[in-house]
Amino acid sequence: MSRELRAALTGLDPQYAKRLTDALNIYLANLHVVSAKLRNFHWNVVGVDFIDFHEKLQELYEEVALEIDRIAERIKMLGFFPLASMHEFVRYATLEEAPSCPYNTSTIAYAVVNDFAATARYLREVDKFVRETTDEFTINLFGDALGFLEKHVWFFTAYLERMDCSDSQKR
Ligand SMILES: [Fe+2]
Repeated sequence: MSRELRAALTGLDPQYAKRLTDALNIYLANLHVVSAKLRNFHWNVVGVDFIDFHEKLQELYEEVALEIDRIAERIKMLGFFPLASMHEFVRYATLEEAPSCPYNTSTIAYAVVNDFAATARYLREVDKFVRETTDEFTINLFGDALGFLEKHVWFFTAYLERMDCSDSQKR
């Protein structure tokens, strides 16, 4: 079936489908980089919070794995091909990889905040042209993804906070 027909069958503009696919493939590449980094941190975390971070990072990469599948399948529904090789992921990703070495929990928290916040900003940019359409499926996908990303930006920035109740009362 032609790409144009796949999109048109469900009432989507084929040009929009191509534009969205290109945007989703960059997101997909970044999700693979994030997934590899979360596993790296899961294995290589050190310090007193080892067990909490080891377990939380597994929870995160398992959720990212589900998101990878949701996005790849959305691209298939649009009539195109998701990126599917390590070579392509590294080529199209905008996030930096991390080497395998010991990581303390603050370094991990900063990295997760940076990657998740950058990904949330990227989705908001893409969402601007998605919302000019009636593509409710993608709008809902982005809503769920932003909820996940923002929640964990909150979790890890809270972990990094050093202010306590007496500080907040001075304001
Ligand atoms: Fe494990």
